[in-house]
Amino acid sequence: MESLKVGIIGFGTVGTGVFKLLQSFNNIEVVKIAVKNINKKRETENLNKEILTDNPYEIVNNPDINVIIEVAGGVNPIFDILKKAIENKKHIVTANKELLAKRGSELFNIARENNVIILYEAAVAGGIPIIMPIKTILCANKINKIAAILNGTTNYILTKMTEKGLSYETALKQAQELGYAETDPTGDVEGYDTAYKLSILSTISFNKKVDINKIYTEGITKLNTRDLKSAKELGYRIKLIALGQVLPDGKIDVRVHPMLVSKKHLLAKVDNATNSIMLSGYPVGDLIFTGAGAGAEPTSSSVVGDLLVLASELETGNSPLPQAVCKHNEAAEQINIADTYNEYYISITASNNPGAIGYIGTICGKNNINISTIMQNGINEDNTAEIVVITEKSKESDIQNALKELSASESVKNINNLLRVMN
Ligand SMILES: NC(=O)c1ccc[n+]([C@@H]2O[C@H](COP(=O)([O-])OP(=O)(O)OC[C@H]3O[C@@H](n4cnc5c(N)ncnc54)[C@H](OP(=O)(O)O)[C@@H]3O)[C@@H](O)[C@H]2O)c1
Repeated sequence: MESLKVGIIGFGTVGTGVFKLLQSFNNIEVVKIAVKNINKKRETENLNKEILTDNPYEIVNNPDINVIIEVAGGVNPIFDILKKAIENKKHIVTANKELLAKRGSELFNIARENNVIILYEAAVAGGIPIIMPIKTILCANKINKIAAILNGTTNYILTKMTEKGLSYETALKQAQELGYAETDPTGDVEGYDTAYKLSILSTISFNKKVDINKIYTEGITKLNTRDLKSAKELGYRIKLIALGQVLPDGKIDVRVHPMLVSKKHLLAKVDNATNSIMLSGYPVGDLIFTGAGAGAEPTSSSVVGDLLVLASELETGNSPLPQAVCKHNEAAEQINIADTYNEYYISITASNNPGAIGYIGTICGKNNINISTIMQNGINEDNTAEIVVITEKSKESDIQNALKELSASESVKNINNLLRVMN
């Protein structure tokens, strides 16, 4: 096999992991590596510092390089850099979910016009093979549901809040100390990272372009130890879930939010930084993929896997990987969260008077909501009580109307939280 000449843009966690793994493949030559700060101290073994540059266009315009590995992240300036690379007929392997979620369809169209391939196994769930299986061996299926845990940071935080009763703030601090969370954790804890991954996953699963801006996204910052404790007592675990489903009328329901997941459900057992993706399709049935969703080594497995697939396809001289070409230009019809149907967990602080529970029941009934469980957690010093309600399947807009009515009542002191439930 002729040696494949590669340029790497980005030499941080993933870039160094990829570089290390590539040392075992003597048919791949890393010609150049672009970084942001050329003066940063780098101790990577076997790194010839001469190949470092702070100008990614030295890679993009280098006629010797045929594949670019982009592991820098972000949309700007990376979109323009990769666009130029594609116009220069370079194939791309990327781990950049934000770029693909926000501007992927533009890049894929430019790639198709230039007859080059973009592979991105590492962009969703790090080391777990999920993109290639969906696009190749599962392509005979009609996939109609995705339920997944796609962010290790939030799963770690929720696991510690459940197991050790830690507050959100303490669990986040621990995750930061252990390197599971970044100094600015916003992208993870507000659910954006999960939404980027879900937009990619649902687009390739449902064969329609899912718009990231229409994915309802709610993170884990409003959860407190009381919610995790009540969920546990009721037989659930709270997880940040990426949910995507094709409805009977062909519309698509895609969203990211915390959910109470029945402890019997396989996703409830996925703890710490592990990721897991459940797919339901016809005719294959239910599948589950579980493993490390981040980290230098697992992510390098996906990046280098893509690179080797590309290398072997390029060697045959055929139009590479016909199944891997992305051509989802038809927009999915995504429904609004208000039109979704769910079971709900509602935590309410109410006055401890005899009519409180009856009143909650009456308002729910008036709004077409059936209650399946109602639980009171003791009495507080100020003569209020926390009441937890689990509903049967109800429409989100009905729930929101009921909450408005409940909030206006004198006996309801606070609506503490509203969460959706998965059995
Ligand atoms: N970390 C993971 O486990 C993981 C898993 C899956 C996917 N990803 C994705 O992989 C990508 C990289 O993540 P990471 O964790 O490796 O990030 P990181 O540790 O912050 O590294 C980013 C690297 O890119 C370089 N860089 C940034 N902007 C650049 C630019 N304009 N031109 C050239 N180089 C530039 C930085 O240079 P300096 O070294 O000079 O700062 C650094 O080497 C992101 O898209 C991320 O979402 C990460």
